Amino acid sequence: MTSPVVFVTREIADAALAALRDACQVVVWTEQLPPTHKELTRRVADASALLSLLTDPIDSVVMDHAPKLRVISNMAVGVDNIDLAAATARGIPVGNTPGVLTDATADLAFALLLAAGRRVVEAERFVRAGKWRTWEPRLLLGSDLEGACLGLVGFGSIGRAVARRAEGFGLRVLFCDPGKRAEFGAIPADLSSILREADFLSLHVPLTEETHHLINAHTLNSMKSTAIIVNTSRGGVIDHEALQSALQERRIAAAALDVTEPEPLPKGHPLLNMDNCLVVPHIGSASRRTRERMAMMAAENVLAGLRGERLPHCANPDVYR
Ligand code: GLV
Repeated sequence: MTSPVVFVTREIADAALAALRDACQVVVWTEQLPPTHKELTRRVADASALLSLLTDPIDSVVMDHAPKLRVISNMAVGVDNIDLAAATARGIPVGNTPGVLTDATADLAFALLLAAGRRVVEAERFVRAGKWRTWEPRLLLGSDLEGACLGLVGFGSIGRAVARRAEGFGLRVLFCDPGKRAEFGAIPADLSSILREADFLSLHVPLTEETHHLINAHTLNSMKSTAIIVNTSRGGVIDHEALQSALQERRIAAAALDVTEPEPLPKGHPLLNMDNCLVVPHIGSASRRTRERMAMMAAENVLAGLRGERLPHCANPDVYR
């Protein structure tokens, strides 16, 4: 019997590819940029499994071109790039990689919070530009963390890991996520109080219809003019035009974004040229160990799906009903 074909949309950790090769014919997309939608529909034609990344929109058209597809495994915790309803309707389980990237992403959220709060990137550019002449009492003054309020929108595992880090910095933490219990000294609050009180606002919600543009002109207007927004969730949670105006008009102090809408932002986008906006290229989970674990988990989801077993981490459990 011929072994099933797995299409892997980018080069991932060797150990994960080796685990797949033990049981399958593995076809890897080796380009730096993701396959186009058209290429993807072509490549899945004979695939029994698809190992995708968050850059690959997997919609019903892709699924309809994949008559043998038995499992989709996304190497990400977020699955907003996949039409889950379409997959469920076709009986295809969708895997994701929760848990293993919690600490790496919380670390990056905290790195961005500190960098924006203390203007680290601006300061480094200042030195590189040869502008450092002496110690100045008013040079590059930033925000204090001790005693400041950190608002967490979303209190899942990453939000909680950020709260745990915030305890050590003496931040007062408020969170909103209905139904989640308080931990790490964080206090539950509604979104409007958080927006009003936050000196730092960090976003940790998945991108859904409800969270799309949750941060918009209206919500930005209710924030302090000294507030700093950190986003390591999904770009679509923030309306970027509204953010741009708020930053330009100094209605909030700064933003630090690991994720944007779109990704990447086009060359010359105003947010890339503002001193009070820091943008990094979606590197929340980009630590060596984390990416290896994510790749291995994604491979395990593929292998379980091909064996007809329940995926260890399934984003559409309804498929088993
Ligand atoms: C990264 O953004 C992920 O969803 O894993």
